[in-house]
Amino acid sequence: MSECMDFTVRSAVHDYRVRFVDDGLAAIADYAGADDVILIDEKFVSIYKSRLRPLLEAHKHIALIASEEQKSYLQLAPVIETLIGKNFRKNNRLIVVGGGVIQDIGAFLAANLYRGVQWIFFPTTLLAQCDSCIGGKSSINFGRYKNQLGNFYPPHEIVIDPGLLDSLPELDVRSGLGEMIHFYLVSGLEDFHRIMADYERALNDHTVLQKLIARSLQIKKRVIEIDEFDRGERLLFNYGHSFGHAIESLTAYRVPHGIAVSYGMDLANYLSLQLGHINRPIYDQMHELLRCNWQGVELGPIDLESFIGALRKDKKNIGSEVVVILTKGPGQMFKSALPIHSQTTDWIRQWLSGRENPGV
Ligand SMILES: NC(=O)c1ccc[n+]([C@@H]2O[C@H](COP(=O)([O-])OP(=O)(O)OC[C@H]3O[C@@H](n4cnc5c(N)ncnc54)[C@H](O)[C@@H]3O)[C@@H](O)[C@H]2O)c1
Ligand SMILES: [Zn+2]
Repeated sequence: MSECMDFTVRSAVHDYRVRFVDDGLAAIADYAGADDVILIDEKFVSIYKSRLRPLLEAHKHIALIASEEQKSYLQLAPVIETLIGKNFRKNNRLIVVGGGVIQDIGAFLAANLYRGVQWIFFPTTLLAQCDSCIGGKSSINFGRYKNQLGNFYPPHEIVIDPGLLDSLPELDVRSGLGEMIHFYLVSGLEDFHRIMADYERALNDHTVLQKLIARSLQIKKRVIEIDEFDRGERLLFNYGHSFGHAIESLTAYRVPHGIAVSYGMDLANYLSLQLGHINRPIYDQMHELLRCNWQGVELGPIDLESFIGALRKDKKNIGSEVVVILTKGPGQMFKSALPIHSQTTDWIRQWLSGRENPGV
């Protein structure tokens, strides 16, 4: 079932292969060499305890809590000390098992230890499987400043088993689906129709989910191979993200990333509607899918001034305008410098208050 979905990503750092497998836990054991070190999500270990026990007894490993605190510069010092203490050498590999947090830590360590060691990534969250596993970015936090330190250092191989997502809480699944919807909308009308048709079934059918993941990665692959280092085309993937990041930060990360991005895409669409870039029927169609995805996760009251303030902090801004990605419809996203004047803030206020937008 899986083999035909495998593919290679071309990268200036090193090309890397993405493989789909039916038994991810067995695959970890197949990949781990005698002196490799397994860096693994502690919660994942506790969920798959009995199946992982022989593997973890036979191999050096470090289990970490997947938290933003752990993903920070100072917290990595003891991990580096443990790795060196375990005699980890340049010719050994890091086998990284977890979601985006463990990935970011693994990538950062692999890139910097001995000027770069090989690492293999087994993503265990939907967000990591459908998005972050390719692209090569790694970012760790510095104190309370998120994602400040990092580089581009993709894994040498990525092994995906969507079956490992069975234990993922529904909210994390929907967060991943939000990230996927974003890729499908950036891709075009056909992909938008595809994810609308498959959305419900993806929640409880592995085969459907695996196909959606593979397509999501293909959409991302096409763009990162042209613009690996985020200088042009890749910026369009920021669709829903500037607004999403503001929502994440103003809700103190209570709203998970992919859900915040779902809200963020709806706001981008709403502004596009007001500016005459899209018509009401297409706005409504996208709104319906996004609303399904964020259902049950309320934004709560968000203060307009704080929201504008958070938008202004985005590192992509120039001068007094806020750089965002708007849309003329699926597949027609474009970068726009949004002047923050009374009309724009009125529209944002309407959206935040849900008055113009009963589903929000
Ligand atoms: N490097 C990149 O390109 C990139 C891209 C997007 C996001 N990120 C980063 O990724 C992080 C978010 O990643 P995430 O959403 O994967 O979250 P995560 O790694 O924090 O995992 C979410 C939760 O799920 C648990 N978990 C992991 N796998 C599980 C499984 N199979 N079953 C049950 N529980 C499981 C984790 O322990 C954690 O509690 C953020 O820090 C973000 O900055 C990085
Ligand atoms: Zn994202």
